[in-house]
Amino acid sequence: MKNNLSDLAICGGPPAFNETLHVGRPNIGDREQLLQSFQQILDNRWLTNNGPFVQEFEKKAASFLGVNHCIAMCNATIALEIVIRGLGLTGEVIIPSFTFIATAHSLQWQEISPVFCDIDPATHNMDPQKIEDLITPRTTGIIGVHLWGRPCDIEAILEIANRRNLKLIFDAAHAFGCSYKGQMIGNFGKAEVFSFHATKFINAFEGGMVATNNDTLAAKLRLMKNFGFAGYDNVVHIGTNGKMNEMCAAMGIASLAGMDAIVEANRQNYRQYETELSGLPGVSLIHYDESEKNNYQYIVLEIDEHLAGISRDHLMATLHAENIFARRYFYPGCHRMEPYRSYFPHSGLLLSETEKLTEKILILPTGTAISMADVKTICRIIRLAVDHGETIKSILESQK
Ligand SMILES: Cc1ncc(COP(=O)(O)O)c(C=O)c1O
Repeated sequence: MKNNLSDLAICGGPPAFNETLHVGRPNIGDREQLLQSFQQILDNRWLTNNGPFVQEFEKKAASFLGVNHCIAMCNATIALEIVIRGLGLTGEVIIPSFTFIATAHSLQWQEISPVFCDIDPATHNMDPQKIEDLITPRTTGIIGVHLWGRPCDIEAILEIANRRNLKLIFDAAHAFGCSYKGQMIGNFGKAEVFSFHATKFINAFEGGMVATNNDTLAAKLRLMKNFGFAGYDNVVHIGTNGKMNEMCAAMGIASLAGMDAIVEANRQNYRQYETELSGLPGVSLIHYDESEKNNYQYIVLEIDEHLAGISRDHLMATLHAENIFARRYFYPGCHRMEPYRSYFPHSGLLLSETEKLTEKILILPTGTAISMADVKTICRIIRLAVDHGETIKSILESQK
């Protein structure tokens, strides 16, 4: 247990953990079930191309979400690209800058300009009040992002999209298992896209899924993810290879089967963090709306340097020295990374809340790989760091 400043690794103490604790360390479901599925796949000699495991994964996800169509794909980035193209988006599409870079890349990859909208600092999601000013004659759509699994203001954004005749889709990479006004995410807009990347709440090693209630769009996306093939020797649409393979689907099915246990582990970690950090000045944990379904996959801290007496970056360096690999998602914001920084050098002028928030956010480890004792140790270190912010600052600055 670390009790004094001198116990901290940046002051020469031994690191709190021998093995690095990662944000988003994969949850492994029922190993036996998974290995059996792998045997079955090999026996089937049906490794990809809409095999039985992909079909089962899609059916189970659709039934869980209460949505008409779930279309499994190789990852969420390709799934976003296919949806964007399937809907015929062109010109400019409005998205938040405070998101993973894939949201922007899925547009720019097709030479569609992402137009970055500022966020509401209270929710970290796109601020609907700032959308309309960004609409130009070239705007064709909006991509809302449910950051940290907390739904963006769907109703307000939908109202704007409908009134201005824009197509609305959602990057729901973080939001599998979450609800908005009692309805599961997956049911909103023209389509919503989930990620099943290894670090995500439900994982398929790599994977993505489009959920939609639109039959025509679903049929089109199924063609597009399979090169546009409508049957043997018959290509009817431009397409690409967005297919999920059978091994990934088996992992996704096992992950779905273990979902309740993952949520429970995440929820308990979240509660523990909440308890251990309560009352700590300048350090606040984001809230999840308890009247909705949440996956609690992200432990998101906001560090107010003036109140905490330590900056987010110094706190992060302190944790890294202890082998706690906290992350500053999604620093510095898409608009300050290439190619967007060069394409839109002045976009930051309209993104003041985004720029402020990217200096404050720190994501901590959670999931089934983290124990309550780990959470306590992490929080103890955070408390020590806050108590000794000035000294830590001088130590870290002297090491530069
Ligand atoms: C918000 C967001 N959108 C899109 C993606 C891309 O997902 P994938 O890795 O499955 O392509 C991710 C994460 O990886 C993400 O966090």
